[in-house]
Amino acid sequence: MAKKTARQLKLGAVLVGVGNDQFGWRDPDLPGDASIDINWFIKNAQLAEASKFDFVFLVDSPFITPDTTPHFLNRLEPLTLLSALAVTTSKIGLIATLTTSYWEPYNVARQFASLDNISHGRAGWNVVTTGLEGASRNYGREEHFDHAVRYARAHEFVQVVQGLWDSYEDDAFPRDKVAGVFLDKTKQHALNHKGEFFSVAGPLALSRSKQGQPVIFQAGISEDGRNLGAHIADGIYAGVDNFEDAQEYYADVKARASALGRDPDHITIAPGLSPIIEDTDEAARERVESRKEKLDLDKLLVQLGRAFNYHDFRKYPLDEPFPDVSHLSLNAYKGGAERIVRRAREGNLTLRQAAYRLAERGSNFVGSPQTVADEIERWFVGRAADGFNLHISRPSDFAKFREQVLPILQAKGLFKTEYEHDTLRGHLGLPVPENRWTLQAAQLQAAE
Ligand SMILES: Cc1cc2nc3c(=O)[nH]c(=O)nc-3n(C[C@H](O)[C@H](O)[C@H](O)COP(=O)(O)O)c2cc1C
Repeated sequence: MAKKTARQLKLGAVLVGVGNDQFGWRDPDLPGDASIDINWFIKNAQLAEASKFDFVFLVDSPFITPDTTPHFLNRLEPLTLLSALAVTTSKIGLIATLTTSYWEPYNVARQFASLDNISHGRAGWNVVTTGLEGASRNYGREEHFDHAVRYARAHEFVQVVQGLWDSYEDDAFPRDKVAGVFLDKTKQHALNHKGEFFSVAGPLALSRSKQGQPVIFQAGISEDGRNLGAHIADGIYAGVDNFEDAQEYYADVKARASALGRDPDHITIAPGLSPIIEDTDEAARERVESRKEKLDLDKLLVQLGRAFNYHDFRKYPLDEPFPDVSHLSLNAYKGGAERIVRRAREGNLTLRQAAYRLAERGSNFVGSPQTVADEIERWFVGRAADGFNLHISRPSDFAKFREQVLPILQAKGLFKTEYEHDTLRGHLGLPVPENRWTLQAAQLQAAE
């Protein structure tokens, strides 16, 4: 009998097709067009659902260069893709990344509310502000918003979207065919929002799903990123890369949320996970070493530069101290760029070492299925994570996780063997938010 613990590990499946490292796409078992083949996504979402994953998760970005990594180079648009997954799965949550820097709240509210209705309450939105400045040129703008502006805009953006999602109270449509009453007009509400960034009247032409509103995820590690997460996030795709940092991030974001009067248990913190699983610890370590030998340094330097808006690190000497980049704007992946500089300084790293260090990111989970499951448990119990976002690309890696690691986690009582809910909020242990207008009316009535 598996032990039962109150707190359960949450698992997301990040479907990254041909992957974002140097090797994944060359796996003989992975179709070269996985990132644009809807059947690849359907198959893997169904496998994740059969293994009781809580959600699938799609990353996205509105800017590419010829040096962009394989999955990002050529991929399907997330909302369109998730609509197809909504009708080919029935339990698993469906989370798409969408940037607040290049959209309007009305569009975003409509798209996610549609996905939430199509999937019967399984939609989630990963709110990002976009790191790459080149995106501005795809949207008719000369410049990317500054980091602080992006975050202020994101905060207001989400509030407007959530306001629009409450346009109809849950009993707004009597659809009384005999009496001829389709809508109860008193239950339709315009938002009439006028703020620093947006002016949105509403109402939105779509009612709520059975989970009330789509779930909000967020990703961003700077101070502003942490504050936004503490304010708005039901879940966080955490950009952490070792246990100690993860614990610090976890405690910090939850403390910020508590200080705002929020229940910290209502934020699922889920770092990315790319485990290297082999039959023995030794075999797994050998795989890591042999990958390291094959890494193309030029490509690593491009990846390093990405955090600094694709700054070209290939022009610096490799074996001298990490170059002084203090003159560069940190407007792109600010939190990530600051971390690279800090680590290089603290470790007295050369440029070559810093590039390899970045490639080792996420190599905390290397070993036999037992070792990987134990390490997941350590992070979960040690409050470094509430769950993980497993990157799904190579079929054999995903199979090993499902068939060998998950049963160990289930035997430990950490992960469910059956779904207990069929909405994303249900999976994440989140209450259905009351419609704000219904709540207001009830409060007014109580006060009378
Ligand atoms: C773990 C993580 C994942 C992210 N995923 C995306 C993404 O899929 N698409 C995107 O446009 N930006 C993404 N971002 C970028 C952030 O939204 C943000 O614009 C950028 O990281 C700068 O914020 P920060 O300094 O707070 O990290 C991600 C950031 C982090 C840390």
